[in-house]
Amino acid sequence: MADTKPVGHKRPPHTTDVAYQQCINPLCGAVLDVRQVRTACDRCGDLLDVQYDWDRASVPSRLADFERMWAERRAPMRFSGVWRFHELLPFAPPDQVVTVGEGQTLLQQADAVAQYVGVRAGRLYLQYEGMNPSGSFKDNGMCAAFTHARMTGASRAACASTGNTSASLAMYSAVTRLMKAVIFIGSGKIAYGKLSQALEFGALTVQIAGDFDDAMVRVREVSKDLGIYLVNSINPFRLEGQKTIMFRVLEALGWEVPDWIVVPGGNLGNSSAFGKAFSELHALGLIDRIPRLAVINAAGADTLYQLVERRGVRWNDGCPDMQAIGDYYRELDARSAKADTIASAIEINRPVNLKKCLRALEVCQGVVRRVSDQEILDAKAQVGAGGIGCEPASAASVAGAKLLREEGIIEPGDRVVCILTGHQLKDPTATVAYHTTDQDLFNEVLGSRGVRRASFANRAVAVPNDLEAIIRAIQLYS
Ligand code: F0G
Repeated sequence: MADTKPVGHKRPPHTTDVAYQQCINPLCGAVLDVRQVRTACDRCGDLLDVQYDWDRASVPSRLADFERMWAERRAPMRFSGVWRFHELLPFAPPDQVVTVGEGQTLLQQADAVAQYVGVRAGRLYLQYEGMNPSGSFKDNGMCAAFTHARMTGASRAACASTGNTSASLAMYSAVTRLMKAVIFIGSGKIAYGKLSQALEFGALTVQIAGDFDDAMVRVREVSKDLGIYLVNSINPFRLEGQKTIMFRVLEALGWEVPDWIVVPGGNLGNSSAFGKAFSELHALGLIDRIPRLAVINAAGADTLYQLVERRGVRWNDGCPDMQAIGDYYRELDARSAKADTIASAIEINRPVNLKKCLRALEVCQGVVRRVSDQEILDAKAQVGAGGIGCEPASAASVAGAKLLREEGIIEPGDRVVCILTGHQLKDPTATVAYHTTDQDLFNEVLGSRGVRRASFANRAVAVPNDLEAIIRAIQLYS
């Protein structure tokens, strides 16, 4: 790890870099060199941002200028849906950039889902991040974290994960051979699609007797002790890559700003990154308004919802009510409460980016909602019926949009973009259990979590091994 440099309130005077790191706490504001490896401020322990001296960066004068980058797509850096926007995350020299072709994702207009949500046809879009090479949005951030890790000369990278971060880290490690991957997972808490990726890609897989929140605490300790580069979204460089999801949404909408971005909330990296993306674009004069942000928790892992909507915690100019946050966590501990949802990707009670997310909610006039596992699975089936499969956590965005529409907060004519964070094949168990005819399987996987119905199930038709019976069944059901 690099040494601590003296901190101040300004960008480091000794560097010619456009980028630097800065503590998000305005009362601290400590500044670090871009090459330092930290996941928290040395002085006050708060989160860090990557910041830029935009006056010295060469940012295109219009967002539409980024379209010409696509013409240069033979260069891997311009093929990447992340690095195509390098000028908006200029922390790395181009020759250090790591890419495996991430970010070739789709914004799909989804009219059937619009009907389900209750907005007008043509107004609901699904941003399908399941199309990334490892099957989730994580690749947007991982290529950025890997790039920074490379800049700092790291040889090992670690994460705690509910599955997708580990799959992405394992993939970048295997493809690039730049770093050895070490992943921490909670026992029995990771969907098979994700675990299979980490194992096959050769990551050192450490299974902790505990859940994600426990694994997160441990990986922070271990990476500090052993000097291993940490790639969880507490790493500010991860979030720089994830900003580009919003750039691609804008690009697909012809650079028009939608009314709503709806995103599932787990460790709150995406929501934080999206808020940062919009405030930077606005400050740079590249957009004239900022969309509203809705962050959707699973009801069984709803810390953000409880704090924001029930206890009124706000960003408050960088000084949120830490007492209220601490009290909430103490209450969870007193009840030995553990996160519990079928949306295992967001089964998180102690989101590391909580404060940054509060800032994003402020910037984007955000709201937070919680949805049940029943609502998540029904929304997932509706998304899947449109041919774009997502994993349960992703469908929380659609379930949340439906709830906000029912509450009248989203209007029928609003233009709404729901982020589908991960691919359906990540968690086949949840999907099969929803559509199954096997009541035992349904009860075991879903009934135990309070799911009672599978209203949109597409059930297999059981027939004897007999030609006439098969033909009869097909004529009856098709
Ligand atoms: N959706 C999926 C599919 C995820 O894998 C995650 C997070 C989230 C949503 C939540 O995103 O943390 O930015 O709020 N998965 C992490 C992991 C925690 O370890 O793979 P967030």
